[in-house]
Amino acid sequence: MKNAFKPLFAVLFALTSSAQAADDALVTRGAYLARAGDCVACHSAPRGKPLAGGLPMMTPLGAIYTTNITPDPDTGIGRYTEEEFARALRQGVAKDGHNLYPAMPYPSYAKINDEDMHALYAYFMHGVTPVKQTNREPDIKWPLNMRWPLKLWNVVFLDKSVYQNKPGKDVTWNRGAYLIQGLGHCGSCHTPRGIAFQEKGLDESNSAYLTGGLLDNWFASNLTGEHNTGLGRWSEQDIAGFLKTGANAHASAFGSMTSVINNSTQMLSDADIAAMARYLKSLPASGGNGNAPYSYDPKATKVSLTRPGASDSGARIYTAYCMHCHGADGRGFAPMLAPLAGNPNVLEKDASSLINVTLNGTGDLVLDGVPAPYPMPRYAPVLNDRQIADVLTFVRGAWNNGTSAVQAEDVTKIRKATQAAR
Ligand code: HEC
Ligand code: HEC
Ligand code: HEC
Repeated sequence: MKNAFKPLFAVLFALTSSAQAADDALVTRGAYLARAGDCVACHSAPRGKPLAGGLPMMTPLGAIYTTNITPDPDTGIGRYTEEEFARALRQGVAKDGHNLYPAMPYPSYAKINDEDMHALYAYFMHGVTPVKQTNREPDIKWPLNMRWPLKLWNVVFLDKSVYQNKPGKDVTWNRGAYLIQGLGHCGSCHTPRGIAFQEKGLDESNSAYLTGGLLDNWFASNLTGEHNTGLGRWSEQDIAGFLKTGANAHASAFGSMTSVINNSTQMLSDADIAAMARYLKSLPASGGNGNAPYSYDPKATKVSLTRPGASDSGARIYTAYCMHCHGADGRGFAPMLAPLAGNPNVLEKDASSLINVTLNGTGDLVLDGVPAPYPMPRYAPVLNDRQIADVLTFVRGAWNNGTSAVQAEDVTKIRKATQAAR
């Protein structure tokens, strides 16, 4: 009798364990997609538990706090059904029906397809450790804290359609477009915003898409094919290298891009990174500083560095504080030390990123668990606003960079704003 059941048990066991293997694969896939979506960067507080929320985010109305998205049933999203989860990601509506602020990048996540949404849900329910941590209320005061105007915002600005493959484009291009526009939500930083905080475009059909945007005192660079400030001089391999390692011959990651590389792009597969690079390289030139195409010319700069004039305080500060890393020729030692000659961030009209990185440095690029060896130091305690404006004005004029001067008032403003946030 017992023996007669043996084969049946064997079959049942094989069935359940293959179902288990399929579930494991789904959770693993979801974990990968959560990396591509960089959920952890926003939904974790410094020194807090991963995905338990609590990170303050500034909005034009005041600070809001990211929420606990671990599967804890009481304080997290453990009671979300898959449908509710998908609605939060694509339409910005929480389980209880309240609207989320678009600081949660649901206008981008709206493009996530059903299959990927299913895997993400499986990961958040079964692959994430539940953490009991109550959400913090936003600092926004009544009446601005009322969320119903967000419904109107969604009517005007939210495009609810899932990404559709574009006919005439190959599989790689479409994969890249899907990742950049959707999970990667690259436009949430790299696309300029309009008066209602909406991104001016959500895909390449809008010429403002990915032409650069200012958020939290960092200017996220132009990612179109523009020659000077964009990726016009970068190859697909250059872009892929930057997303994998945070640096290449042209520039290094700093500011808010650092966390994108630390938590997301360095973990993506080579094929996905290559697809993203392919898509970015296909974007026609848009935006930019209106200058003639950059070409390297160190002659005039050599003279001002060897014999700085009495009024040339920028060149003197550069010699004293910057030159041993970035070089007299402005070429740095890429990829370890960023070049400043022809660097797209240096050529950008908006100098916020340069001011911010010079004030506050950047020490936290971490590749495979190893921090970068020579991070850019912070000069906030060493140089005053006038000196920072002078040295950056020098850098923006040197090596034929040909970009406008930096004003001390702008340094003062960013010093205040970033000190308040520290
Ligand atoms: C750029 C920052 C940012 C990223 C990236 C981000 N979120 Fe959010 N998310 C937020 C903010 C802010 C809120 C809360 C908004 C509010 O309170 O109105 C939120 C809210 C949510 C909610 C509603 C939670 C609740 O408590 O009911 C869910 C679910 C969610 N996010 C899931 C995700 C997932 C999954 C990812 C990755 C695919 C992700 N988020 C990536 C900022 C972000
Ligand atoms: C949280 C804001 C933020 C997000 C999200 C973001 N970036 Fe960035 N990115 C920046 C900032 C700021 C810079 C400028 C500093 C630098 O060069 O690292 C930048 C720079 C870059 C550069 C280098 C450009 C140059 O000229 O130096 C590339 C390439 C890039 N980002 C690609 C991406 C891609 C692809 C995504 C989406 C997967 C993305 N970024 C998402 C903020 C962001
Ligand atoms: C100890 C070496 C070191 C010194 C000194 C230094 N930097 Fe940097 N700088 C770096 C590194 C490394 C980066 C790339 C970002 C990173 O990895 O931290 C960088 C990045 C930058 C950037 C952003 C460009 C980009 O694309 O990454 C600017 C602008 C800059 N430095 C300006 C200056 C100025 C101005 C001074 C002098 C006041 C200075 N640096 C001194 C190492 C240095």
